[in-house]
Parts: sequence; structure tokens; C-alpha cells
Amino acid sequence: MITIALSKGRIFDDTLPLLHAAGITPLDDPEKSRKLILDTTRVDVKLIIVRASDVPTYVQYGAADFGVAGKDVLLESDCMGLYQPLDLRIGKCRMMVAVRDGYDYAGAVKRGARLNVATKYVQIAREHFAKKAMHVNLIKLYGSMELAPLTGLADAIVDVVSTGNTLKANKLIAVEEIMPISSRLIVNRAALKLKSAELQPMMDAFANAVK
Ligand code: ATP
Ligand code: PRP
Repeated sequence: MITIALSKGRIFDDTLPLLHAAGITPLDDPEKSRKLILDTTRVDVKLIIVRASDVPTYVQYGAADFGVAGKDVLLESDCMGLYQPLDLRIGKCRMMVAVRDGYDYAGAVKRGARLNVATKYVQIAREHFAKKAMHVNLIKLYGSMELAPLTGLADAIVDVVSTGNTLKANKLIAVEEIMPISSRLIVNRAALKLKSAELQPMMDAFANAVK
């Protein structure tokens, strides 16, 4: 049996064509069903539906053989026991620093001001500002980061940006790109050794589909 951990929404939707390439079609739609374990057209493959930030944990502990997780999620989690063999080129976005339109970010950086930065991505933000030798207070949030500069909670945010529509709708502007983000296939290290005859053909099918 091969178990693949996926999150609902964009990762599930964007992974479907890759699964099809490996002959896998889920028998339920996670948006309609409350089931968390989905059978597929391949009797030897099942999908488990977990929170995006929980995908590495399921794969790390071997509760899933494969998973699909954003680079952002992987950088925020402890990736012991995981291989990241393939960039699936889905879930593409950019990790950015953004501020209220009109806020003098460059001036604040130049003055060496200590900024309050709200983010869900504390590790990524910490490393970014440390590299720039900037002192910041990091404020951990779990979502809707865009609200933080508008309410005075923070001077800046670190968040993912794709179309830029969310920033625009909230009168924020991106001032720095930290890194491009896409989703990766992750594999449990022990499973890859013990079940390589089962897992390798599926990894090859995903790799061909990405090409
Ligand atoms: P959780 O439910 O654990 O809080 P989440 O809400 O960030 O996670 P999703 O919104 O499903 O989960 O995003 C999954 C992944 O897709 C993210 O980890 C990121 O890599 C990528 N992503 C996030 N926002 C966008 C976007 N607007 N456009 C494209 N990809 C995105
Ligand atoms: C993500 C992110 C931004 C938005 C950016 O939120 O947190 O708010 O996408 O995308 P855009 O540049 O195309 O507007 P998401 O849609 O995942 O909602 P969430 O807050 O539920 O995670």
C-alpha cells in the first residue's frame, strides 16, 4: 500500500494531473466528502487529507509515504527523515515583505528602525532579516496577515503573494522579494529504502508529468 498526504484546495487540485499521470484518480472529492482517507482507482494507493502544515509531519513519521508541501511549509518545519526529490512546479507564488502603501520602508531600514513584522512564516522571516542585519520584532499570526499593518499591529508583513490581488485590495505594497515558492514532492526516507520497488515507479511518473 502507498499512502500520499495532501492538503485540500490548491495543492489537491494542482496535484490531480500528476496523480492521473501515475494512473491514480481519487474516488471521492475532499471538497464534498468529510472522509479523510480517500480510496483511488489504484487499489494499492490511498490519499490522506491533512492541513498543509501537517503534511511534513505525516511523511516524517512514516504515516504517509509521499506528501506534497510548499517550500514555505518545508522551511518552517523540521524536515528530519524526509527526502525532497522533486520540485512539482505547482502552487507557485513568492514570499514577500509588504507594507502599507505610503509607508517609508526604505527610510526605516536606512535609519535602522526596529520594525514590527507580522507573519505566519517566522523562520523564513527571521533568516531574511538576519541576513540584512535588520533588527525586527516578529509577531506570529496564523492567517490574514494583510490586516496587521492596517490595524497598527505591525509595520510590515511577510507573506506569500501570487496575483498581488490581496495586497492591492488592502492597499499594501510589496517592498522585497524573499524567495520564489513552489510545492515539492516529499518522501519518507525509510519507506524509500524499504519500498523502493513500489515507490520509485510512482516518483518517475510524477517526474515525467512535471516535464
Ligand atoms: P494551513 O491550512 O496549514 O494553514 P495554508 O492555508 O497556507 O495552510 P493553502 O492555502 O492550501 O494552505 O496553501 C498551500 C500551499 O500553496 C502553501 O504552502 C504555499 O506554498 C502555496 N500557496 C499559498 N498561497 C498561494 C497563492 N495565493 N497562490 C499560489 N500558491 C499559494
Ligand atoms: C494566500 C496568502 C495571501 C494570498 C495571496 O492566502 O496568504 O493572502 O494567498 O494571493 P494573491 O497574491 O493571488 O492575492 P490564501 O488564498 O491561501 O488564503 P488563506 O489566508 O486562507 O491561507
